[in-house]
Amino acid sequence: MATVWPIEPHTAAKHELLMHYLGAWFPILASREQRIIFLDGFAGPGIYSDGEPGSPIIALRTLLNHSAFPRYSRCEFIFHFIEADTPRLDRLSSELRQFDPLPSNVKVSTHRGEFVDVIEGVLGSLDTRNRRLAPTLAFVDPFGVSGVPMELISRFLDSRKCELFLILMVDHLNRFLTTAHMKGGRDSLFGTDDFSVVEAAPAGERISALVDLYKQQLRDVANFQYALDFEMRRANETVAYYVVYATRSLTGVEKFKDAMWKVDPSTGSMFSDRHWNQGSLLTGSNVELSQLQHRLSEQFGGETVPIRAPRRVHARRDAVPKARPSQRLEVHGEPRNDCGREAAGQPQRIPQGHSGAVQRESRHLIPGPAIEDPTG
Ligand SMILES: C[S@@+](CC[C@H](N)C(=O)[O-])C[C@H]1O[C@@H](n2cnc3c(N)ncnc32)[C@H](O)[C@@H]1O
Repeated sequence: MATVWPIEPHTAAKHELLMHYLGAWFPILASREQRIIFLDGFAGPGIYSDGEPGSPIIALRTLLNHSAFPRYSRCEFIFHFIEADTPRLDRLSSELRQFDPLPSNVKVSTHRGEFVDVIEGVLGSLDTRNRRLAPTLAFVDPFGVSGVPMELISRFLDSRKCELFLILMVDHLNRFLTTAHMKGGRDSLFGTDDFSVVEAAPAGERISALVDLYKQQLRDVANFQYALDFEMRRANETVAYYVVYATRSLTGVEKFKDAMWKVDPSTGSMFSDRHWNQGSLLTGSNVELSQLQHRLSEQFGGETVPIRAPRRVHARRDAVPKARPSQRLEVHGEPRNDCGREAAGQPQRIPQGHSGAVQRESRHLIPGPAIEDPTG
């Protein structure tokens, strides 16, 4: 594939999800921690062919443009970007120059290499010094299914405050599930060779069985308490991939669900390229609410219902939309849609364009900026 390539609508939706979640994650973590890390394990070139920003640029802009950022000058924000392809890493380094000079508490490091090797380097460096990783959000966005072993994810993100945002290429997996060439990558990705539950599922349910199995493995093997998923579909309504998010924090679950509702104000669970030109993404206009309306009317029609969502409900995939404990939702006919609103202090749409500043490039594997938790 070329160094840069055209963006697809579901890729832009994935970026929106990331941006909304980071818009909550940065200030929450920064208000409590001395150092936090955003690690992009498959960073790409930082730009798409029509100039749209890639995930490293989105992550940095979300922090630097955040209204709360000036309040957190005592927190160190560390960004690690890993990319195996040299021309793409060079392009990323050049794109990152737009942020120079960075505020002194923001540090960026690029790593030329394979995700597995760089992460093993991180773990080795921490082990040698008997330190643990600072609170980290790992964004893991491979093209395929290889190079992301569950065993590595488990060791890397085993601290309580570490989280995972991963792209699971289930369509590809489903099509080649039992072929010999897929087996190694598949078993390593899932951390098991037992796919009997998936194989026994009816054809139309195999993809969701795969997603459920992966989330179960994140809980069983990597000790995450909560795992959520968000479906991305192509224009022909086939599944492109799932975004999987894993955490040990109920606040994380709540904030990720908020991000899911912002990308999909209709069901909070999926995005389809088919809706790309219908104005549903982000704007809140032309949102298809009939499914949500039907479900709410079925359950609560004619009643005035106080909504008191226990925090635990946010961990459920089919949970009702979140409302503040004091809110009352009247379900007489039209349900109120306030799921797609922008929260105060949250970043707005991803800004386009470059500021033209210059960014230093670090080619250190590890060390680059410090990675250990300074609190011990
Ligand atoms: C899906 S693209 C990343 C897109 C980027 N995260 C974004 O959202 O803008 C995957 C990238 O991972 C790189 N890559 C492939 N295998 C890799 C590996 N084993 N380690 C690190 N990077 C890898 C590819 O060169 C490609 O640029």
